[in-house]
Amino acid sequence: MLMFYIIMLINCINAEHYDCIQIGHEFEDGFESGKDKQCESLSNNYSYYFNKNFTYSDLAFNCNRTYLDGKFTMTSSFDYWDANVIEVMDKSQLLYMEDFIHIMNLSLEKNLYYFGLVIDYIHLFKDGESINKFIINNPVNNKRCFDVTSFNDNSAFEINKNPNDHYLPEDFKNGLDMSDGKAYLISNNRLMRFCPNGIDLDTSVTCTMNGNNYNLSYSGNGNQLFNYPHCQCDDSGETECILNIQQNLNTVDFNNNIIKYTTLNIDHDIILYNFISDKQINVNDDITLLIAPVSSIKEYTQKI
Ligand SMILES: *[C@@H]1O[C@H](CO)[C@@H](O)[C@H](O)[C@H]1NC(C)=O
Ligand SMILES: *[C@@H]1O[C@H](CO)[C@@H](O)[C@H](O)[C@H]1NC(C)=O
Ligand SMILES: *[C@@H]1O[C@H](CO)[C@@H](O)[C@H](O)[C@H]1NC(C)=O
Ligand SMILES: *[C@@H]1O[C@H](CO)[C@@H](O)[C@H](O)[C@H]1NC(C)=O
Ligand SMILES: *[C@@H]1O[C@H](CO)[C@@H](O)[C@H](O)[C@H]1NC(C)=O
Repeated sequence: MLMFYIIMLINCINAEHYDCIQIGHEFEDGFESGKDKQCESLSNNYSYYFNKNFTYSDLAFNCNRTYLDGKFTMTSSFDYWDANVIEVMDKSQLLYMEDFIHIMNLSLEKNLYYFGLVIDYIHLFKDGESINKFIINNPVNNKRCFDVTSFNDNSAFEINKNPNDHYLPEDFKNGLDMSDGKAYLISNNRLMRFCPNGIDLDTSVTCTMNGNNYNLSYSGNGNQLFNYPHCQCDDSGETECILNIQQNLNTVDFNNNIIKYTTLNIDHDIILYNFISDKQINVNDDITLLIAPVSSIKEYTQKI
């Protein structure tokens, strides 16, 4: 009996907060809706709640608010899911595939880490006749910079290159001004970081390598080499890059890539092959670091 009441209570809360709640993984699966709500209509003023993978591909869709809660993937093979406000809930991490969303008003709850990992394209609108411009709302009482979106390619913004319509990377050059703070692009324009008013940009970016073969690029052979799309971040010194290597890797081949601007953190025994240069290596006590073959070390400039 107690169980029954608890479930009832949860349902009531949800129904009050959101007009339409995702049921399945596709639009066609429909929505759990409050009374008289036509959640399948393509243009409305309702609020939608998502907490699991969702695929949308019909016609352009527009609603008032979309709440995203949890870690999941949003995919569109063609059309867009738009909302006047995208509300990303605490500790959520979304992966957008294809051109899922036009982002305008982005609200973020506190303690947020990455809101989006964008594969392919993203539209961040400038002011238009019928469309609000892209803004980020600082979480209430937040006083530190936080990461908003990670891109696997710095051309993610440049779809159809119409600068009157949406922001391009150069708009973020000295921080894109918003009422709550500034948005920056760092790490080769692959990471969007937001700093609230009065807080200076912190440019340090930490990446972890999960594979044995170093590559500057996130994608390659299917298994992702780094923990985020904006990794590896080595970018002419504008970003303070820190590279960790996953605990269970005993060897890493750097393939003679020159990583001049990265600080490498070594916290377990490891052999590095074809390793050319590095800004600095930090090695924990009692750790054996071997760099081989020695003859390939041409610009061995790190301070240990
Ligand atoms: C949404 O609400 C606004 C303001 O109340 C109204 O002008 C508009 O027509 C509504 N849109 C839809 C699709 O119902
Ligand atoms: C849009 O959502 C906000 C917040 O939930 C609400 O206050 C507002 O009335 C909604 N707009 C329309 C036109 O329904
Ligand atoms: C969600 O999609 C991702 C790939 O985009 C997949 O790896 C994962 O298993 C899916 N999860 C569910 C619950 O379907
Ligand atoms: C964006 O959303 C925030 C929070 O809901 C709201 O206060 C603000 O008025 C919205 N701005 C625009 C331009 O819609
Ligand atoms: C590095 O990434 C590029 C571009 O994605 C890919 O073509 C190449 O095969 C990758 N190299 C390795 C060693 O994985």
